[in-house]
Amino acid sequence: MLELSGIVAGYDSAVVLRNVDLVVPPGAVVALLGPNGAGKTTLLRVASGLLAPTEGRVLVEGKDMTGSAPYRLAAAGVCHIPEGRGIFPALSVAENLRLQTPPGGGRMAERAVEVFPRLGERMSQLAGTLSGGEQQMLALARAYLCNPKLVLLDEVSMGLAPKIVDEIFEYLHTLAAQGTAMLLVEQYVGKALALADYVHILKRGRINFAGEPCEIGEEMVAESYLGVGA
Ligand SMILES: Nc1ncnc2c1ncn2[C@@H]1O[C@H](COP(=O)(O)OP(=O)(O)O)[C@@H](O)[C@H]1O
Ligand SMILES: [Mg+2]
Repeated sequence: MLELSGIVAGYDSAVVLRNVDLVVPPGAVVALLGPNGAGKTTLLRVASGLLAPTEGRVLVEGKDMTGSAPYRLAAAGVCHIPEGRGIFPALSVAENLRLQTPPGGGRMAERAVEVFPRLGERMSQLAGTLSGGEQQMLALARAYLCNPKLVLLDEVSMGLAPKIVDEIFEYLHTLAAQGTAMLLVEQYVGKALALADYVHILKRGRINFAGEPCEIGEEMVAESYLGVGA
């Protein structure tokens, strides 16, 4: 579904990703772990076209989309749920859902409410006045409305109550069961590993480990994720 090869990328001031290879097979869930500042958000931004790599290639379903604009990657089936939610706080829940629905999407907003009934009770409420958990559900509804082939998720459980985190992971399990591929950046390592088919650990802009969740020991998670010994 997604193949990143030899990715070098960064910002004016610094190179962040140094020769990163990563594959998300169709329908697979890949967890991307690593300490703060390792480059996880940067990698997702490269995958969704928000940041063009200076070297390397981005392939979507075998098609070279390196340097393509974000809307082209979205049209190819890549849906990015960014860090910090990316909803429109001054618009109502209904308006947010309408904006997220692609042309011809029909009654998709009703479908979103089926997965997150809480949103249904708050259709006319301004999105910015929702609780953190409700805002994240609104952001995640997009992964449902757009019918994507691949969803990029950047710490969607950040700052949320444990009960809401459980609800969100239940939703992610449902998405995975429908065959939606995911690249998942997550601080709840145990939950991410339980959902993932493959794991990559990113450390200082390089892939430090790539394999299956069962190959990862707790020590490795602690060292690589928390940056112990970095
Ligand atoms: N817009 C930006 N401009 C300059 N540097 C940035 C920008 N965004 C992130 N960085 C830097 O890139 C590095 C990787 O950041 P990021 O990809 O956000 O890491 P992570 O998501 O793993 O915490 C950090 O050193 C960060 O300070
Ligand atoms: Mg990040």
